Order: sequence, then C-alpha cells, then structure tokens
Amino acid sequence: MTKEKLIIFDTTMRDGEQSPGASMTKEEKLRIARQLERMRVDVIEAGFPAASDGDFDAVQAVAGIIRDSTVCGLARANELDIRRCGEAVRGAKSPRVHTFLATSPIHMEKKLRMEPSQVIEQAVRAVQQARGYTDNVEFSPEDAGRSDIDFLCRILERVIKAGATTINIPDTVGYTLPEHFGGLIRTLRERIPNSDKVIWSVHCHNDLGLAVANSLAAVLNGARQVECTVNGLGERAGNAALEEIVMAVRTRQDMFGCDTAIDTTQIVPASRLVSGITGFPVQPNKAIVGANAFAHEAGIHQDGVLKSRDTYEIMSAQDVGWNANRLVLGKHSGRNAFRQRLTDLGIQLESEEALNAAFKRFKDLADKKHEIFDEDLQALITEETSDQVESEHFRLVSLTAHSETGESPFAKIVVSENGKEKRSEAQGSGPVDASFKAIEGIAKSGAELLLYSVNAITTGTDAQGEVTVRLSKEGRIVNGQGADTDIVVASAKAYLNALNKLHSNATRVNPQV
Ligand code: KIV
Ligand code: ZN
Repeated sequence: MTKEKLIIFDTTMRDGEQSPGASMTKEEKLRIARQLERMRVDVIEAGFPAASDGDFDAVQAVAGIIRDSTVCGLARANELDIRRCGEAVRGAKSPRVHTFLATSPIHMEKKLRMEPSQVIEQAVRAVQQARGYTDNVEFSPEDAGRSDIDFLCRILERVIKAGATTINIPDTVGYTLPEHFGGLIRTLRERIPNSDKVIWSVHCHNDLGLAVANSLAAVLNGARQVECTVNGLGERAGNAALEEIVMAVRTRQDMFGCDTAIDTTQIVPASRLVSGITGFPVQPNKAIVGANAFAHEAGIHQDGVLKSRDTYEIMSAQDVGWNANRLVLGKHSGRNAFRQRLTDLGIQLESEEALNAAFKRFKDLADKKHEIFDEDLQALITEETSDQVESEHFRLVSLTAHSETGESPFAKIVVSENGKEKRSEAQGSGPVDASFKAIEGIAKSGAELLLYSVNAITTGTDAQGEVTVRLSKEGRIVNGQGADTDIVVASAKAYLNALNKLHSNATRVNPQV
C-alpha cells in the first residue's frame, strides 16, 4: 500500500529566528536554505518580509535560488504585510504566502481588541488578497490551542471558501496535551464541511516539552503537514524538532499511514549548520542530533550492540548523517579541492576574493590542525561571512593570554577599531575573563554577558573550539561566534563578533507574533 505524503514545513528561518539572539543574515539564510533543500524539505518558511527590509531581502534571495522546495513567507492578516510577503516570494519557483490572525478569546479581546465577526472578515480579506499573489495560501488561526472549537469551525470554513489551500493549527503557547490536540484536529476535519479541500497542518510550541508529541498525535488524526525547526529552535522553549518528527514517523511506520520525503542523512549536517550559525549549541543528550544520541556507556549495552546493533538501537547513526560528510582535507589540499568540498557542502561564496580569503583561513587552520573536517569548514565559512556582513567595526589583531598556577591570569590585546589599532590589558579570574575585560577596556560597550559556551567542533585535542557569546544591551540580544584551535582566541573572536553585531545598524524588528 502506498503511503500518503507527510509534508515537512521548516520554519527555522522564521520562528527559529525569533529565539533571542538567533537572528540570521541573508548569507546565513541562503546557506541554511540550500541545506534544507538538499535535505528535501517540502516547504521552507524563509522569514517575515514585513518585519524589516533585511528580512524582505533575505526571503526574496531565498526565493531566487531554491528550486526544489516551496518558499514561504509569513504575513500578518493585513494589507501591507501580505503585499510585502507576496512581493518577496514572487520570484520563487513555488511560492507560498502564510497569513495568520489570532482566534482565542484572550488574544481577540486583549491583543486585537476585535469582535469575533471582525476577525472572520479580516481573515477572509487577507486570504483573498494573498491569492492575488499565489494560489498556494496558508492560513493559521493563532493560539488555536486555546480557541473555542465552534468559532474555529466557523472561521476556517470561511477562509477555505476564500481560497486557503493549507490550514495550519498552531499551539502558539504550547498549552495542549497530545490527546486533546489530536482530538482537535480530528474534530475540525470532521465538522468543517469543506475540510477535504485543504491540507491540515500543525505548528506546536514546546513550553511543556510536548511539541513533538502533540504534532505526532495530530498526524495520527489526519494532519499531513508538520511545521518544525532544526534542533527544535524557536520562540521561548522552541518548536517541534524536525529531526524528531521525521525519525519518529520513519522509525514507526507501523503506526503512521504516511511518510516524509526527507533525506535523513542530511539531518546531522543541518543540525550542525544551524547550531553554528545561530550559536545555539545542541545538548549532548538531544534525540537524534545530540553528541550522545548513539553513544552506549553501560557495558551491557555495549556488549549487546556489538552482538547485534538492534538490541539497543532503533535507528542507525549513519542513517541520520553521523559521519556522513567527514571527507577530510589537509594542509596539502589545493584550492580546487577546497572549492569542490565547499560546493559539495552547498556553500557558494559570493566572489573569487571571498574564496581566496576563505582559502587563506583554511591554510592557516591546516597549519595548526592536521585534518580539516566538514564541521571545521562550516565554522570557517560562518566566521568569514559574518566578518564581511558585520563590517568588522572591531577586529582582533593579536592576543596574549597568560595563566599560571598561583598567579593572577592576565591578557594583553590589540584590537582594531574602525581601522585604528588600540591596546589594552586586564587581569581576570581566568584567561577568558581577562581577555573579555581587556576588550571592554577598548570597546566600553557596557553590554551584559548572558551566555558563554564552548564546544569542540570535532574530536581530538587539536579540535577547534567553537565559542558562543550572548550579549544584551538596551533590549537587544545578539549571539557572537568564534572558532579557533586556541579557545581563548576563539572566545575573544566571539566577543568581538557579538560587539560587531551590536554595533551594526541592521537591527531586526521582530513584530509580536
Ligand atoms: O506560534 C504561532 O502561532 C506562529 C504562527 C505565526 C503560525 O508562529
Ligand atoms: Zn510559532
């Protein structure tokens, strides 16, 4: 029996981007979009075009390069948002406009200050307007998980009549439980007379840790599109994790009457790419993509797996892309091999100069580290493109950090600020602390350090450390990244990268979604 298709709608670049500090540049979105296409994601939600000119440009650029996935933009149910969104996705081979309006009593009364009948009229108008740009229109009744079911039936029947082709049911605040949410999907499909004219979709948030469970309950009750994000990134506690949805449906084919088209071997590369770009590390025990997801510690387990893998493993690490792309380069690799590997990874640099600069960084790294893995290349490119985009107000020139038992650690730093070299030194509780204090001695940003984390990009003591620094200033939160085989240098680079982002005028305006 042929299985029905479960559409995977990725919103890493829209809802995922709404995580504090996760905002992405156009170049970063293009890299993620290429990886999502390679993974065979069906729909890529590339951003919120009305939010800012930068977001508009990014969605338009994604629409211009992606051929095999539908490219979608989000729009509030008003004329301006829909126009911006329609224009941004127009160049896509397969464009979609996704518009939404809140339907729960609390949102209608307190946020929208609108009567239910007005909400229906506005939603219908929005869908009709969106149909002027594309015949692929999605409507979401925001906060559906806390909406009245009779009202949902009324409004959804009307928006389907108006031309919506996908109805997405969001559990915006992550309030529902699997049985309740599955029942909601079943009831809507049964009670709405024209429900068979649309694809039913779900979009679950993880506030109670139930986003994946709720999405799967919906699939068991007839949903045929799931909205999700790589690594479960997203507003507050995040969205349903793409990798968990895909692997649950694939692994439990005995339970699901549908399957996805995802190339699962691209899951781990996608996870690494998103984590590197956003600076949100993946916890080691995270399902599917965590470093320990396939590690067996207990002797009994190790013994069992050696005898037969399926004693303790329900999926294979290779199937989800662990070790899939580990072809290595070394210090003798030439420019062509380097270029070819970038192409294989879906990375296209804008110009020959950018390629030359990246190749130089690669050679510098290869001098310090024997084998260069794909993860090293991704980190190197993330740094290279980030430096170009953030216009490098601050740039690390040199750093000396000293630590010795019984002595107070100190750091001396030379930073170029707008092309002018400045020096500073400071003591700290450790060499990283001392370096940050020395940088602050120059930058005087007054920003608050919210997070500092270090991850080894690959294995071995010669691995590069990838550092994330999250800074907050005047309500703005940014993540800076830096990578180097010396983690004090990586830390200083990450701190300066965050300062450059704070300094950049490209402030993203995130509307209240
Ligand atoms: O969580 C939510 O309700 C959303 C909608 C815009 C789908 O992100
Ligand atoms: Zn959401």
